[in-house]
Amino acid sequence: MKKVSEFKVTPWEVSGKVDYDKLVREFGVSKIEDSLLKRIEKNAGDLHFMLRRKVFFAHRDLKWILDEYDKGNKFFLYTGRAPSGSVHLGHLLPWIFTKWLQDKFGVELWFQFPDEEKFLFKNDLSFEDTEKFLNENMLDVIALGFDPKKTHFIIDTKNADLMYKEACKVAKKITFSMVKSSFGLNEQSNVGSIFYTSMQAVPAFLPSVIKGKEIPCLIPHAIDQDPHFRLTRDIMPKLGHYKPASIQCLFLPPLSGAEGKMSSSEDMAIFTTDSPKEVEKKIKKYAFSGGRDTIEEHRKKGGNPDIDVSFQYLKMFFEPDDKKLAQIEKDYRSGKLLTSELKEYLIEKINAFLKEHQNKREKAKKEIEKFLYKS
Ligand code: TRP
Repeated sequence: MKKVSEFKVTPWEVSGKVDYDKLVREFGVSKIEDSLLKRIEKNAGDLHFMLRRKVFFAHRDLKWILDEYDKGNKFFLYTGRAPSGSVHLGHLLPWIFTKWLQDKFGVELWFQFPDEEKFLFKNDLSFEDTEKFLNENMLDVIALGFDPKKTHFIIDTKNADLMYKEACKVAKKITFSMVKSSFGLNEQSNVGSIFYTSMQAVPAFLPSVIKGKEIPCLIPHAIDQDPHFRLTRDIMPKLGHYKPASIQCLFLPPLSGAEGKMSSSEDMAIFTTDSPKEVEKKIKKYAFSGGRDTIEEHRKKGGNPDIDVSFQYLKMFFEPDDKKLAQIEKDYRSGKLLTSELKEYLIEKINAFLKEHQNKREKAKKEIEKFLYKS
C-alpha cells in the first residue's frame, strides 16, 4: 500500500498533498486578486498564462511594487537556485515567468546561486559537486534568454567579499529561536544551516547597497521559499531597507501524481538534458493518468484532467494557448481524447521545447562570463 505522507512544506522538504489554501493562511501571503492582474496587464501589455491560470497565485506587496513602478521607481527582480543536481522542468517554471517579467517591465534581475546551501543541508554533497552543478545550472538559466546587460549572477562563495558582510548584518538581527520556528531547525542542526537564511536575504537589498539608493525588490519563487523571505521582510526595515515584495507559484507536480513536487531525488523528474526517447519513456511509463482503465470505459465515462499529470503539465507549462487547452480539457472529459493521445501531444510539446533549450544551452557555454557579477 502506498504510504500517505503528511502534508509538509519547508524550503528543504515538500511532502504530502499540497494544500495551497492552508499555505496561504499559514504563511500569510495574499492571493492575487483580479484588480492586481488588471494592473499587471495594463503595464505589461498582456498577461502571462501562468498569471491567467493562477500558476502564480499569491504575493506579498505586489500592489506596492506596481505603485512605485507607476511613479517611475523601477524595481529589480531577485530569484535563485542552489546548485545540487541537474535542472528539471519544475525549476524552469518560475524562471520562465521571471524572464517574462524582465522583458515586460525592462528591469534588472539578480540571480543568486547559493553554492553553499545544499552543501550545508545535504550530507553527501561536497563543494566539488556543487561547483560542477553550478556550472551546469548556470547554462540552464542563460538558455532561457535573460538579457545579459540586465542580469547579474551572484555566487555566494565567489562573491563572498560583498555577500558575507551584508549577511552578517542580517544574521545579527536573527535569533536561533526565530530560525527554529521558521524552518523547523533544532539543536541538532549544524550551525551553517542555521546561518544560511542570512545569505538568502542579501540579494533582496544588495543592489540597493551597491547603487547607494533604495530600490524596490520583487522576488518570484515557488511557495516553499516563503519562510526565508518572511524573515527577510522582518529584518530589512531594521537595516534601513525596503521590505522585498514577492510573487509565489505552485509546484509542478511529480510524474507520479498530485503529491509533493517534481524533485530530482524522487527520480520522477524530466531533466533539461533528457533525450526525446527518455522524455517519451518517462511520460508513457510514469505520468499519472486521470483516464479510465479500458478504452471502452474511457470513451463512455471520460477522463479526469484535474488529476491527470500530463494535462497539468500542459496547463502549467506547455500549452500557452487557452483555446487549445480548453478543447483538450473538454475532449478529455468527454472521453473523445484518450490518455495515450494526450500523452503523445505532451511528449511532442516537451521535446520541441527541450530541443530549443538544449541548443541554447550549448551556446550558453560561451556566455557565462557576461552574467557573472564582478565585485
Ligand atoms: N533556496 C533556493 C533553492 O533551494 C535558492 C534560492 C536562493 C532562491 N535565492 C532565491 C530561490 C530566491 C528563489 C528566490 O534552490
